[in-house]
Amino acid sequence: MKKVLVTGAAGFICSHLLEELVKRNDYRIDIVDDLSTGNKENVRKYFGGENTRFYQCKIQDFPVLTDKYDIIYHLAAKANTRATGLVEFEDNIMATEAVTKMLKPNGHIIFSSSCAVYGNQAIVIEESPYQPISTYGYSKWMNELTIKANCKNYTIFRFSNVFGERQDGSNEMGLIGVIDYHLKQNREMKVFNKGKNERDYIYVKDVVKALTTVRGNSPYQIGRFKTYETLTLVNLSGVKWSYGADNSEVDTIKLSNTKLLATGWKPTLNVVDYIRGLNEKA
Ligand SMILES: NC(=O)c1ccc[n+]([C@@H]2O[C@H](COP(=O)([O-])OP(=O)(O)OC[C@H]3O[C@@H](n4cnc5c(N)ncnc54)[C@H](O)[C@@H]3O)[C@@H](O)[C@H]2O)c1
Repeated sequence: MKKVLVTGAAGFICSHLLEELVKRNDYRIDIVDDLSTGNKENVRKYFGGENTRFYQCKIQDFPVLTDKYDIIYHLAAKANTRATGLVEFEDNIMATEAVTKMLKPNGHIIFSSSCAVYGNQAIVIEESPYQPISTYGYSKWMNELTIKANCKNYTIFRFSNVFGERQDGSNEMGLIGVIDYHLKQNREMKVFNKGKNERDYIYVKDVVKALTTVRGNSPYQIGRFKTYETLTLVNLSGVKWSYGADNSEVDTIKLSNTKLLATGWKPTLNVVDYIRGLNEKA
């Protein structure tokens, strides 16, 4: 049995990843989440499972008392791109530093970085320079450097904007989750920055496919190389809305996926079809 550590599995993306990982009957999986933004219901079924154990704590406080891990999927993070304080920054830095020490020397760590490392560059490739404009983006940059310095085998993925089932839109983060939440509640959502920001959207199951199948020591971007303006998607959904604040955020970001496509990975559901589905259900 391989000893596997999964961090952040009560959260949106990692809960989908865990669904795939538990299908492997050669994995013994430890799941760690502090439930700061995650939902316990996403992991309850794995409490005390035959091959799964759940631990509610900060990953940097998790004592590895026995052997280290063969494989680590590290997705736990404070993922608020608008946060300006150091709390999120420090938590992400300490969490990632700690996780790298839990890997066996020949183990492999898979990490969820973000297009936030690029900041305000309209079109990016994996070799584009680091130019974050948020503390979150800086923390991901630091995390990438930490992993490269401390681990022999690693795969770093830089996600674009992820959408899909179980995205928590109650906290105004993640546009498609926010739309879904307000449609279901029949409430009016706020559209920031006049709805002019453009983002590249990727379905959560496509992210999971890359995380579980693609390996390599230089980073992979996960996106569709297509952007949509916020207001276009909001109007398509039919949700009620009004203008909110102007935030200092990235204007436009479009991620080349040439490198990932070359591995055989293919994106499936696009964001427009997903929103049409939400609209029909609401
Ligand atoms: N959602 C996106 O569009 C997107 C885009 C780029 C990158 N990412 C990255 O993907 C990962 C997952 O994002 P998500 O959208 O599912 O976020 P999420 O907030 O739903 O999940 C993060 C999980 O990590 C847990 N967590 C946070 N800090 C922790 C710590 N120190 N110790 C233990 N658990 C901790 C939270 O409770 C939560 O369950 C994050 O690393 C995020 O930065 C997400």
